[in-house]
Order: sequence, then structure tokens, then C-alpha cells
Amino acid sequence: MQQNRFFVRGSKQAASEFAAKVFLEAFWNSTGNFLFGTATGQTPVLTYQNFAKIHRDKAEGEPEDFADFLRFIQLDNYVSPGSSADNLPWYSYERELSESIWRVPNSGMYIPREYTGNPEKEAEEYRKLRQAQLNWANTYMQILGIGDEDGHIAFNMPGTPFDSTVHVVDLNQETITANANKFFGGDKSLVPKRAITTGIGDILKANIIVFEALGSKKASIVKKAFFEEPTEQVPASALQYYGGLLFVVLDDEAAAEIPKEAFTPMEEIDIAKTVSDFLN
Ligand code: PGA
Repeated sequence: MQQNRFFVRGSKQAASEFAAKVFLEAFWNSTGNFLFGTATGQTPVLTYQNFAKIHRDKAEGEPEDFADFLRFIQLDNYVSPGSSADNLPWYSYERELSESIWRVPNSGMYIPREYTGNPEKEAEEYRKLRQAQLNWANTYMQILGIGDEDGHIAFNMPGTPFDSTVHVVDLNQETITANANKFFGGDKSLVPKRAITTGIGDILKANIIVFEALGSKKASIVKKAFFEEPTEQVPASALQYYGGLLFVVLDDEAAAEIPKEAFTPMEEIDIAKTVSDFLN
């Protein structure tokens, strides 16, 4: 039987390059429309840089219309009352994506609107919009990070049902504290307290998932997610039920608590062949 789950590890740069190559090979080895599910945060930054670079090199000489087959859909967004389309907050995910992966030529970019006065209605609309994009796509590939302590994926907090769809969420204290420390100079009062997130059930619909975790803070939760009983208390453990093609890409620090025999050396994986055998 074809293997559909790979654990790889390496330096931060090697891990990010590997994740970028999966996206690249998936895009160029799939037929038809390709939906790239993005995540924000620190983890994918290097991956996006690598992806944009390799994609640019590879796209040179290719028909210019390749962009017609590529769209991006973001997992989640904060709810930021008081902001507007013309006045996005400085921490805006929309801005972050516009300055990184959205710069790759594409035919559509989607994100929940953070400035909506009615988040529940926006969640409902985003659910429909996601469905329309899934209908458009022949292949949906999702990049995923993980919450340092509680194992959230997208903004699905512990306790979220594994079959959940797009919903409004009150962020828990762990997430607010982690995000305050990473992005808001430690000031928890500045972190938005609510968000709109794609559900766990939506994420599990992807054809390919690249789960990426970097740094020692993730070591313990990554082990819980993949090597302990799945539980709604650790949202990422839902990935144990995932039937698509899964790459768990870790740097050496995040990999510290995973048994060594779980890993396949990166150089032994023919990404293009693995992806195209899986998709075709
Ligand atoms: P990070 O966030 O990539 O900034 O560590 C991950 C997450 O909270 O999902």
C-alpha cells in the first residue's frame, strides 16, 4: 500500500525548504485548479519565502496563464472591531499575506473579513465561500501550524469537535498570551479576543496537508498530537484520522520528543513522485 504519512526533520531552513517543495511539486504535478490553504504566524514565514523563490524560478518559461489555476484561501482571521477595508490594523493577516505568499501570481485570494460588524454572518458567508472554492479546486492543499501549548490548528481551540466547520471563536488565554508575546510586544490587551476560523472538519477535507512546527516550544505538543490518543482537547490530534497525504515537517527542536524511527530522511522522499502518485 502506498504510504500517505511522512515525518521529516532537519534544520529550520531545511524543514522550510522541504515544506515549500511539497507545495511546489503538488502545484506542478496536479491537473486542473489548485487551492492553496494558507496559515499565518511565525512558522510559515521561511516556507513562504522559499516557495515564492522556487516558484518564480520554476515558473520562468512556463505559460503565463499558470496563475489562472492557483488560488489562496486563508484559514482564519481575527475579529477586529473598529477596523475597515481601508484601515486594516497593523497586525492584519491580510497585510501579512499580501506581503508574502499572495505575491505569487494567482487568480484569487480569500480571507474572512476582520472588520465585519457581524462576525457570525461573516462566518456563514466564509463557509459558503470556502465551499465554492472547494468546488472550483481539483486539488486543495493546506499548510498548518500548531499552537505552542494547547495544540490548536487554525483557531480551533481545545474542545472543538473534529467535524466542525467555519465558526466564530473566543480565543483562550494560552493563545492570547502566546500571540501577545510573539506579535504584540507582550501586551495581552492589544490581542483581539475573537476570531473567525475554518473548522477542523474543513481542514481534514484537504487532499494534502503540510503540518509544520519549528522550535523547542512545540516539541511536547507535537508528540501529544501524533503519538498519544487523539482527543478534542488537542485539536491537532484530529490529524491522526486524516486520510489524505500528510507531511509532518519539523525542525530538530520540535522533533525532540518524537521517536527517531518515525522519521524518513528527507533525501529519501521523491516529493514529485509521491505527490503525483497520490493525486493521480
Ligand atoms: P506560530 O503560530 O506559527 O506563530 O507558532 C502557530 C499557531 O498558533 O497556530
